[in-house]
Amino acid sequence: MDKFKTLEKKIKSKTAVIGIIGLGYVGLPLTENYVNGGFKVIGIDSNPKKVNALKSGKSYIQDISSKSVKSLIKTKRFFPYSDFNKISDMDVIIICVPTPLRKSKDPDISYILSALKEITKRKYLGSLVILESTTYPGTTEEILLPELSKNNLKVGKDFFLAFSPERVDPGNAVYLIKNTPKVVGGVTAKCTKLAALAYKSIINKVHEVSSPTVAETSKLLENIFRSVNIGLVNEMALLCNRMKINVWEVIEAAKTKPFGFMPFYPGPGLGGHCIPLDPFYLSWKARTYDFNARFIELAGEINGNMPYYVIDRIFEILNSNNKTIKKAKVLILGLAYKNDINDMRESPSLDIFKLLVNKGAIVEYFDPYIPSVEIYEKKYKTIKDDYKKFKKYDIVVILTAHSKFDYKEIIKNSKCIYDTRNAIKTKRKINKIHKL
Ligand SMILES: NC(=O)c1ccc[n+]([C@@H]2O[C@H](COP(=O)([O-])OP(=O)(O)OC[C@H]3O[C@@H](n4cnc5c(N)ncnc54)[C@H](O)[C@@H]3O)[C@@H](O)[C@H]2O)c1
Repeated sequence: MDKFKTLEKKIKSKTAVIGIIGLGYVGLPLTENYVNGGFKVIGIDSNPKKVNALKSGKSYIQDISSKSVKSLIKTKRFFPYSDFNKISDMDVIIICVPTPLRKSKDPDISYILSALKEITKRKYLGSLVILESTTYPGTTEEILLPELSKNNLKVGKDFFLAFSPERVDPGNAVYLIKNTPKVVGGVTAKCTKLAALAYKSIINKVHEVSSPTVAETSKLLENIFRSVNIGLVNEMALLCNRMKINVWEVIEAAKTKPFGFMPFYPGPGLGGHCIPLDPFYLSWKARTYDFNARFIELAGEINGNMPYYVIDRIFEILNSNNKTIKKAKVLILGLAYKNDINDMRESPSLDIFKLLVNKGAIVEYFDPYIPSVEIYEKKYKTIKDDYKKFKKYDIVVILTAHSKFDYKEIIKNSKCIYDTRNAIKTKRKINKIHKL
């Protein structure tokens, strides 16, 4: 039987072994879905600490409980490893490794390259390789395809290759893997067919496109769309502040239009592993085509400046209370990059924390999701939810609108509040509360 038919049969009968490389925010939920969907899953992570945690039934990701990890292990269909030799046992190999930026804002695909090296060192004849990591258009066909085709292996015949972007939204209880449509683009029609089949086993709707490049670009468009719209509304916030117009009220009003408008909200800056980084993957690639992606760069500039704007506003507010930033007692509320999660990757709160420390402020923070943080090699622990003690701070700065915060207590006990998220909604104006 040819390799396509063999793999097709295995996926349909759920006897295909699914391999997940990179068991993080993307790889672990995917693992959970495949195991619960009846497949055997081999997960490989280069971090042995994570593998040991999983083996002992512990989760390190908020959206997946330790109870759920324990039940995955109990099925005897989930095998976490840090040993790459297990790649030879995989029928479908899904790569979910990080894709950060270098300091120069150029793509860093070194994690993809190292995962790829581990695959090509081993037997992958007859397997389907899918890249899920967000990356620039062309990565699958320009980087993965030539390496996997070495030794005269033919794509679509000896092995199969596709790109399928991940859309997981940490903390989102409504849209999970199953009910979020998945885009799939294979190098050949057979590659697309197999990849679509593999995802249809666990996801309600799969959208097939003509190539990996289209799939790669569609992911970037989605995230650039968010970055540009957030950039626009952040600029509106700066202008509204100058003109003394309440930007939040403006958005609420515009939002009543039932068509042609979608609300985005300003804030202290972009965070998370995706929106602040992904757009630059495309602008970098665009430059190799002598094309300047201006919207991406402009949005990046406006959003990247928001932490500095927040610092200027803190200066201004303290000044209006006859205080200086130096030695001012500042309490930051929220280090996570968005509400109700414990992820602080790229969080603007960290930039603002550092800037305040640099200016000589005495900074403390409160985040029920983040027990401690290291800023300039100094360890800070979150303060407890003892709101009465808020009186001692010169300013309380809300950077993440966690729903666990008791806003009534915050208002009651704080001398001065700077709310960058419009977390406090009061009918009457309270003079000590300052908005973005
Ligand atoms: N987090 C999100 O919300 C999200 C959403 C959509 C897409 N993505 C994309 O998915 C990809 C993964 O992101 P993530 O948030 O899961 O990252 P993560 O850091 O949470 O997880 C990646 C995992 O890969 C492991 N790893 C690194 N190199 C490896 C290697 N060579 N072999 C095996 N394991 C390796 C790391 O130890 C880590 O556990 C990125 O490209 C990201 O842009 C992330």
